[in-house]
Parts: sequence; C-alpha cells; structure tokens
Amino acid sequence: MLGVCYYPEHWDENRWRTDARRMRELGISFVRIGEFAWSRLEPLRGTFTFEWLDRAIDVLHEAGLRVVLGTPTATPPKWLVDECPDIIPYDEQGRPRGFGSRRHYTFSSETWWKESARIVEIVAKRYGEHPGIVGWQTDNEYGCHDTTISWGPEDLKSFKRWLRLRYQSSDQLNEAWGSVFWSMELSSFDDVALPNLTVTEPNPATRLDFWRFHSDQVAAYDKMQCEIIRKHSPGRWITHNFMGFVSDFDHFKVGDNLDLASWDSYPIGFVEKFPFTEEERNRWAETSHPDIAPYHHDLYRAVGKGRFWVMEQQPGPVNWAPWNPVPKPGMVRLWTWEALAHGADVVSYFRWRQAPFAQEQMHAGLNLPGLDEWSPGGREAMQVSEELAALGALPETSQAPVALVFDYQSYWSTMIQPQGKDFRYEELCFRWYEALRHLGLNVDFVRPGASLEGYPLVVVPCMTEVSEAAQAELEKVEGVVVIGARTGSRDRNFRIPDMLPPGPLGNLTGNRVIQVSSMRPGLSDGVSGAVSGRAIRWREYIETSASVLATFENGDPALTGKGKTLYLACWADAELLAEVLELATKKAGVATLRVPDSIRLRRRGDLVFAFNYGTENWPLPEGADPLLGEAVLKPQAVAAWRA
Ligand code: GAL
Repeated sequence: MLGVCYYPEHWDENRWRTDARRMRELGISFVRIGEFAWSRLEPLRGTFTFEWLDRAIDVLHEAGLRVVLGTPTATPPKWLVDECPDIIPYDEQGRPRGFGSRRHYTFSSETWWKESARIVEIVAKRYGEHPGIVGWQTDNEYGCHDTTISWGPEDLKSFKRWLRLRYQSSDQLNEAWGSVFWSMELSSFDDVALPNLTVTEPNPATRLDFWRFHSDQVAAYDKMQCEIIRKHSPGRWITHNFMGFVSDFDHFKVGDNLDLASWDSYPIGFVEKFPFTEEERNRWAETSHPDIAPYHHDLYRAVGKGRFWVMEQQPGPVNWAPWNPVPKPGMVRLWTWEALAHGADVVSYFRWRQAPFAQEQMHAGLNLPGLDEWSPGGREAMQVSEELAALGALPETSQAPVALVFDYQSYWSTMIQPQGKDFRYEELCFRWYEALRHLGLNVDFVRPGASLEGYPLVVVPCMTEVSEAAQAELEKVEGVVVIGARTGSRDRNFRIPDMLPPGPLGNLTGNRVIQVSSMRPGLSDGVSGAVSGRAIRWREYIETSASVLATFENGDPALTGKGKTLYLACWADAELLAEVLELATKKAGVATLRVPDSIRLRRRGDLVFAFNYGTENWPLPEGADPLLGEAVLKPQAVAAWRA
C-alpha cells in the first residue's frame, strides 16, 4: 500500500479537501502528519490551538485516509528553548547547538523528558481514540544531523548517573577502564569528565561507555513516549522513522519498543553519504547504488521484528546532499516496488507537495511547488498504485537463506579505535551484503545474540565484542558460518581478551590472532588457494589449528575452515570477497544465481522480483512468466513472476 507525508499547516485550509481527494485518486491509503507542528499546537506555554489539527484529521479521515500522527518532539518551539535552555545539545567542541532548524535537544536533559512527556500526553489524549488515527510515529529520525551524542553539562550529569549504576564504585570503574594508564584514575564518580577536548585521544573504554550511555538514552526516551501513547491510544500501532546510515544508537533496542519499524529512504542522497568511490558515485548518481535501499529494507525488517514501512520515500531530487540529481525516469517506481519486494507493508512518499519556502524548497514532492499538479515522481507513484491494484495482495515474505549479523556496537568500537583509518564497519557490512546480493540471494539481518535457527548460511562481517548470547547462537548454527576480521577482538570493557582474538570464538574457529596490520590505500597482499583476490586495508597474523584454505603471499593463513566455520583474516577486495562468499554458499548448499552488477533479485513468498539499475536490457531467467513488467527487463524497469 502507499502513503504520503503531509503538512496541512503549510497550506491554506481551503486546499485540504482537494488534497485529500487527490491523495485518494492517486491510490494513497495512509497519511503521516504532525511531526513538526509543535509551534502551531502550543504557540505559548499552556495555550493550545488544536482546532486546526482536529479539522485536518477530520478532513483526511472523511476522505477515507488512515492517519499516522507524529509526536512533535523533533522541533521544540522557541518559547520552550528560551524558557528551558538546559534542553539544548552541545557539539563535541563544547559549543551549544542553537534554535533555528530541528532536533535541538539533548536526550540527557530531565527538563526535556518532562516537557516531552507533557506534550506527548496532551496529543495522545486528544487524538488517541480518534477513528481516523491508526498509528503513531514517535519523534522524527532520532540521531539525524548528528544528534544522538551531546557534550554538555546535562550530558555529564546523566553520564555520571549511568556510570554509577553500571559500576557501583569508582574502583570498579577504574578497573574496567584501565584508568591506571596515564594516571587517569578517579577517586569518585564526581571526577568523571566528558571524553572530549582532551589533549590526545581519550580512553577508548570511556568513549565506548559514553556511546552506550547515549544509545540507552535514546531507547529509554522512545520507550517513555510509547508508554504514554499506549495508555491513551488503545489498538493503534507505534513506529519510529529511522534514518539510513545513522548508527550512533542501537536501532534494535528502539525497535523493541515499537510495533513496527519504518525508515526514510533517500537512495540518491545516500550515494553522497556513503563512502563510495568517486567512480561509483558518478555511475550511480541518477539511480543510486542497487544495494543502498535494499540493505536498509532488510535491516529495518529485522528492527521491526518482521514488519516495516518506508515512511519517507524520495520522490524526485532532494535538497540536502552536496549534489542532488533528478532520478532517472522509472526510478521512483522502481524504489517503490523494491521496498514492497523486501517486505514493506507501506511505502509512503516524502512529501505530498514541494514547499516553495524554507529549508526544503528544493526538495521534490508528488506535486510541483505550491501546485495541485503531479510532479514526474507523482506520476510514477500513480503507476505503482495502478499496478498494485492489478497484482492484488502480495505474499508474506519468508526467511532468507542467509543471515547477516549486524552489530551497532562494532560500528562504535571501530570508530573509537580504527587502527586503520578506513576500517569502516558499515562499509564492511555493506560490501558483504552487496557480494551476497550479486549471487541473487535474499538476506536477513539479525542482531547479535538473536536466534540463527534455520539459516543454512550465517555471515558475521565483524563483531568486536562477542557476548555469551552471541557465542551461544553462533555455536548452535547447523549451517555454515563465515566470520570476518576483528571479531572477538575486545571484551565488554574494551580490552583485548585474555585468550587473544577472536576471544570466545577461539574454539569455534580454531584461531588465535597474534598481530594485526592495517594497510594504506594502494597497498595490498595477495591471497590464493581455494579462493583468490587481495587483502586490502586490514590483515591479521593468526595461529590456527583449523585447515588453511587460502594463504597470504608469505604463506600465512588468510582463510581457515574448522568444521563448517570459515574465518577470513583480512578486509577482502571485491574479487576475494565474492569468492569467499560463493565458496560458503556452495559449502552450505545454498542455490545462487549470479546477476550482473546493475541487476538485483528479491523473492517475496512465491514472487520473484527483478530490478534494473543499469543501462542495458536483461532477459529474465528462462521460464519466468512476468505478472508485472516484461520478459526483457529494460533499464530502470521492474518485473515480477511466480517462482
Ligand atoms: C528526512 C526528514 C524529513 C525531511 C526529509 C528530506 O530526513 O525526516 O523531515 O527533512 O529528510 O529529505
């Protein structure tokens, strides 16, 4: 089904009915509203002006639209910021981040929690049982614009509280952090300082705790909102719209509060955000890289415990990347179908109409700036809606043959102590995902410690700390497990484990990592044997009791195998990674279909979808009888057939 993000407060009230009618004409079922409207709901403390929102919800509801209401906490209004300056966040340089855009609050401020609870309660009480309201969105894109972590006085206060609970005594804190090093020992929790503005790098264990603390705060803050909403809005679901490549907090933990996850899909904007090569950026400038959106669909399907939406779908050029090309004709349709193929319940476009004012005036909508006239993206949305109606209900999505274990903490740990400047956790996971998708495979994301039952192939690109639960799940896997470098390289206190990496997985892998070496761009080490290619960026020196399947140039083990567990002791280039994962699929008995690098496949139940991000036609596999699209998949086309 389709949805749209709408801002009734941006448009004259006499346009709302026409907007609602045209939404229905387009085939839209859901409208998300309200998430930035605080200044229009409470222009002064205690002065409420809800009548316009009452009327807006009524108009949408009467038109047959189902309304998703956002809590307005992403935009605290000016009067609140002036009255309560302690809600303001601080940047890492210790400067306050001011009013004038959005997300200008810190999760650490007690005042902010109180104010949030107050406004959420008022809104939830007023609309909780409105028949037009079917669901809620908490806040808007936690962490976007680098707003998970804040470095101000409120943060320090709250961090100390969190540390007290975790460590009980300063002796235990000193022991955990290894504070004897450089005389960093503290005699009480009052001595704790923020890990910024130090002469050289601060203690990595302190930084990791600071990250964990902020991550916990986001989840707790979200939970507070959810509990209030649930109290006043029975029978409605709650989601949050996560932003792609914002990984400063654990999205799985926020997902625990929610009924379903949603995320905001700006595939072309992300081409600039992700560390692609310049060549890749140019190649995918007008389509996006074929794995950017799918990677997030699969991640958020996991965060939502099987249920997710795209809450905001790019409908044309955006405004916020350094360059903002117009998507090639067909791409808005393709992205929509792709989200559905990955299991999305709803794809909701951002936004209904391009606003000719303020920060996002260059951001496309389904309608041209200020007008009641379809944009090119609006016409593509209309096409999808007609096709969806013709195709009927889509089958349930089923478990993929491959699980990718994704771990937010590994992202934080490798950022804190990269050891090699370009060891980027997200990039690593993305490249493994890309290689698996080249083999035509569906991939499920799984959080560390969650069940891996039934997966013939499990991949762990990197998991710096292996918890007891994660170890137990990995040891239970009956299929093939591929483990990447730096896994088990730290314990929970950010220490090198006593038994050396991969720590608790020493037995499963048969390995012990003696040394690691990071490599400058341009340097590499050849790998040959059962697989071949090159190690770049990172290479480990290991002692092994497992079989050596491939070696580095000097004969040291590069890929080992013990039972069904493979260990890859490097960052692999594209060729090596493709060979390792292909070898793993063979060992696991997982059937693959290698596709060109601009084609992607995705199964949803018994339907197989194909997507063409490239410039060449691609004939569908033999026997495919398309229910959607044609037997030859043209550039930017979509096809679907029954398997
Ligand atoms: C999202 C955000 C929206 C809008 C959009 C523009 O990150 O949630 O409010 O700003 O980006 O692309």
